[in-house]
Amino acid sequence: MFDAIVFDAYGTLFDVQSVTQESERLFPGNGSIISRLWRQKQLEYSWLRALMKRYATFDEINLDALRYSLQQIGKEPTDEVVANLAGQYLNLTPFPEVSEALQELNSVPLAILSNGTPSSLTAVVQNAGLESYFEHILSADSVKSYKPDPRVYELARVVFDAPKDQILFVSSNGWDVAGAKQFGFSVAWVNRSSKVQEELGVGPDYVVESLTGLLPVLS
Ligand code: LAC
Repeated sequence: MFDAIVFDAYGTLFDVQSVTQESERLFPGNGSIISRLWRQKQLEYSWLRALMKRYATFDEINLDALRYSLQQIGKEPTDEVVANLAGQYLNLTPFPEVSEALQELNSVPLAILSNGTPSSLTAVVQNAGLESYFEHILSADSVKSYKPDPRVYELARVVFDAPKDQILFVSSNGWDVAGAKQFGFSVAWVNRSSKVQEELGVGPDYVVESLTGLLPVLS
């Protein structure tokens, strides 16, 4: 049914809230607020830098977003603490069904398309033992911009040399879903936490609660 399946990484394959435990250890009572503020600011910075055409790598954005978040809650972190905590992004926990679902899905070529840097994506995929499932790990860094810039999604179209609608893009991030659909992919939204669909004028072709929900879509 599709020539390839392309996955967003952070929040889709990997649980970005898995940094909460280390955040809580370092800043007792603030683990959850740090984790959430950090993710939101990380995304905001990626969108703003793309629009301002003031590119910085996702690793740099992640450090900046974490530093902002810690200062926002009244902490004065050392560069070492910021770097060590940001390093948790190399060891994010995959969602429970990911490995089994990828095994079922890889009758077609699979790839990751993410804002993450090539080195950080390779590390988080390898540390989770998922590297054998993916033919390509594609990074927005290749075009020095960020999703939902269409130039990022174009990376996947080019590497598979397939019609856009023959590529299934899978993301848990509603804004990423809208960007990918606007680009022309077939799109599945992994709505793990029953969120409301974004009001962006364009939405997914499929809505599933986990990667396992993709199996009936593909059969
Ligand atoms: C990514 C983030 C945006 O992996 O989820 O690109």
